[in-house]
Amino acid sequence: MAAEDRERWDARHAAVSAAGASDVPMPPDALRGREHLLPNGGRALDVACGRGTVAGWLAERGFVVDAVDISEAAVAAGAALAADRGVAERVRWWRYDLDAGLPGACAGPYDVVVCQRFRDPALYPVLAQRLAPGGLLVLTVQSVVGDEPGRFRASPGELLAAFAELTTLHHTESDGQASLLARRR
Ligand SMILES: C[S@@+](CC[C@H](N)C(=O)[O-])C[C@H]1O[C@@H](n2cnc3c(N)ncnc32)[C@H](O)[C@@H]1O
Repeated sequence: MAAEDRERWDARHAAVSAAGASDVPMPPDALRGREHLLPNGGRALDVACGRGTVAGWLAERGFVVDAVDISEAAVAAGAALAADRGVAERVRWWRYDLDAGLPGACAGPYDVVVCQRFRDPALYPVLAQRLAPGGLLVLTVQSVVGDEPGRFRASPGELLAAFAELTTLHHTESDGQASLLARRR
């Protein structure tokens, strides 16, 4: 990632922290109303975790979580949230540029892999590979479907094609957003 992009993300997260953000743990968007699909604990990976609200939510449900983001301010906010909720020991935070793939230490296998509001098709194969048998993939990306074109947006059917080897549990594509819930066989 270019240094200016990294600084832009970090400045954005730092500004939210400086404004006194009150982050709260929350499920990934694609899982809302479908929490019954979540495995009963195990290991989880949150890719481009941002301020760690999803990582914290998973940790509160007993998962041991690896959470990865390029922004120091984001992972600091996540670590503070996890400490505040008494689950600090269940989350490992990785400040890492996902342009280089996943950190080597995040080898899995994971019972849950989450990636929301971050899209890098080059990572799709490794996200599937890191799933344990029966593991759940939870993805949300911006899409061209129902919105304007853009180079950061998924093309129609992109998630279904990229994760065809998995069993699709739920897929939506509308209003500029695509999401996928899928399980490894
Ligand atoms: C729109 S935010 C989404 C954060 C979180 N997943 C959520 O849903 O709240 C995108 C995140 O991706 C991170 N990011 C962007 N490019 C990255 C890269 N190359 N490597 C690691 N993290 C990156 C940013 O720092 C930011 O926290």
